[in-house]
Amino acid sequence: MDPLERGDLLPSMSTSVPGPKSSTLSEQIRGLEAPGINTLYNDQPNIFWHSALGSNVLDVDGNRYVDLTSGFGVAALGHRHPKIVQAIYDQSKVLVHGLGDAIGHPGRLAASSRLKRISPIENTRVYFAVSGSDAVEIAVKTALLYQSARSRRAKPANRILAFDPSYHGLTFGALNLSSRQAFKDPFSTHLHPQVQRLPFGTACETVDSLFRQFGDFAAVILEPIVGREGILVPEANWLADLAETCRRHEVLLIADEIFTGFGRTGRWWAMEHESTVPDLICCGKAMANGMPIAAVLGAEELMQAWKAPGEARHTATFVAHPLACAAAAATLDTLEKEKLPQRADRLGPMIYDRIRHWPARFRELEAVRGRGLLWGLELKSSEAGSRFGAEAWSHGILLLVGGPEGRVAQLVPPLTITEDQLDYSLKVLEDVFHQLSGP
Ligand SMILES: Cc1ncc(COP(=O)(O)O)c(C=O)c1O
Repeated sequence: MDPLERGDLLPSMSTSVPGPKSSTLSEQIRGLEAPGINTLYNDQPNIFWHSALGSNVLDVDGNRYVDLTSGFGVAALGHRHPKIVQAIYDQSKVLVHGLGDAIGHPGRLAASSRLKRISPIENTRVYFAVSGSDAVEIAVKTALLYQSARSRRAKPANRILAFDPSYHGLTFGALNLSSRQAFKDPFSTHLHPQVQRLPFGTACETVDSLFRQFGDFAAVILEPIVGREGILVPEANWLADLAETCRRHEVLLIADEIFTGFGRTGRWWAMEHESTVPDLICCGKAMANGMPIAAVLGAEELMQAWKAPGEARHTATFVAHPLACAAAAATLDTLEKEKLPQRADRLGPMIYDRIRHWPARFRELEAVRGRGLLWGLELKSSEAGSRFGAEAWSHGILLLVGGPEGRVAQLVPPLTITEDQLDYSLKVLEDVFHQLSGP
């Protein structure tokens, strides 16, 4: 029997958080998995998810939460959306695994044709990836291949500009572009020096001078709204101006829309808020509503840079995985049919109206910012951040508190969250702030 029969419910808590079953499993996992990925944070017992449906998550102790994480922004349609479950099931009856770049299957055309349809890039070609980090690696490789094939430049263009803060993943190439020093320090001897960094939102004149000074930039990579590193929204027109600066210098613009893509911010792509079309788009996370798949979108002219005799120069065993492709095609259809980007666009201002006065009212809260269904609440200290997170969880509201100093609570609900669930969640968070801030 499905203990979560519907996904539109409010929280129901029956034990402390984490409850006794979660605590026992935490003890067991400690003896089985490596620290870091064993789900224990700071070595403390943590909740274990039993099941999830819609915007609800049930833990192994029977506590039901409203999920404001969407599982790292993945379950845009809500967990276990029936159309996606059906698509995975139907595909599993014919082909579960294929031969990646070597042999095709019809499901990948279903996924890539839908990606092409929603891509703002003219004549889009799709390069599938197995994760967001993998997509970032592919985008950077595409830029380097393309730039090295162009002969007009005096020096080969291989420098990349990235911003602080930013998160692009943790595989070596992506790590190089991500900003957080704690992730990079242990491996710094293996990170190459061709990445230049500027603060997110740096005036485009400074970017322009940098491009002039070096003359060998291949690409700029950015998150249109910084996600994991603190939900930062750039000043109006910055994205458009930066795109123009890149164009003038023939530097490729890579938009990492892994977090912001597929309607999260109220448009299919966050770059669209400034009517800006990047050269390459990295996407992942919500692309298949829970199946692991990602992609890079780029114009045919750029993607031609990969053309070479012999075997693929970037691939992976599980690339264009049949189950993930089936889920991706169904996800993209459903996002479109249910008009979920438009829904995020409508709910964003409602959320802002509810929370915009909070920083003036609650002394632990520094700022609120975001767009669509992606919001950050910046607390004054990491200590307040972790107390806020723990209190929210114990009241049945699941959210992650992150950013470089652990001070930004992220509100990333499924795009299908009901207005009741959203309203209730905001009430709980308001109460938690009251409690934290004292009389
Ligand atoms: C903007 C952005 N880029 C890249 C990544 C890395 O994606 P993945 O964790 O699938 O490798 C993430 C993950 O959070 C992300 O938010």
